[in-house]
Amino acid sequence: LTTEVFKNSLHASQVVAEEIASLIRQRQGLGKMAVLGLATGSTPIKVYEELVRMHREDGLSFRNVITFNLDEYYPMDPGSIHSYHRFMQEHLFDHIDIEPENVHIPNGQLSEEQIKKYCLSYENKIEEAGGLDIQVLGIGRTGHIGFNEPGSSLTSKTRLIRLDRVTQLDAASDFFGLEYVPQRAITMGVGTIMKARKVILMAWGEGKSAVIQESVEGEITESVPATFLQHHPNCLFILDEAAASSLT
Ligand code: F6R
Repeated sequence: LTTEVFKNSLHASQVVAEEIASLIRQRQGLGKMAVLGLATGSTPIKVYEELVRMHREDGLSFRNVITFNLDEYYPMDPGSIHSYHRFMQEHLFDHIDIEPENVHIPNGQLSEEQIKKYCLSYENKIEEAGGLDIQVLGIGRTGHIGFNEPGSSLTSKTRLIRLDRVTQLDAASDFFGLEYVPQRAITMGVGTIMKARKVILMAWGEGKSAVIQESVEGEITESVPATFLQHHPNCLFILDEAAASSLT
């Protein structure tokens, strides 16, 4: 695991966007697809802004890109303002030339009986696409990556999970009250994330400094799922100075 610390999140986000763009261009040159694992939340917003800018101003095309999002609340209507489907449309997909059939986001509208089979098919689709080239991650205060809350195992796969109380509290203002925050979500597993050829975790701000310190320097444990990334052969933590401030 390597850490890189930037003066501010804008510059850091531009570096991440450039890394994604160079993968896309390199694959274009070979006539091949690039497979991206994407995150939602506040952390990657500036990366998506920069990718949209590159599409508009530098002619970066996403026609050879396949995406898989980490997670979606359950239950969740994709048209809801709270859905990660809507988030991705608004921040990225509406503004670029990606083929809609190449976009994958967990479906929060299935019946509980359908979910097991659906999660297996989500894993299979990632495999069929050739596996994730780059997985982009944020991190929750619980140490979750995707919505793999404390207790998630190293080999966990895409599945329905129960959100930690801390995660629900962090989402409460977005949902205009804790009582409206979904209790569950569908998330790729730690094992799904660990199979990505490259993992880029980003974290901004003082509020993430404690969990970053634990994730980078703490012992590897299910109680802080991000610590599993210490085992990943090609994992980069991109931090601003505030998020890095507790590292020794
Ligand atoms: C989002 C996701 C979560 C977030 C994390 C941080 O798809 O999987 O793990 O990355 O909760 O959220 P923000 O970026 O809002 O601090």
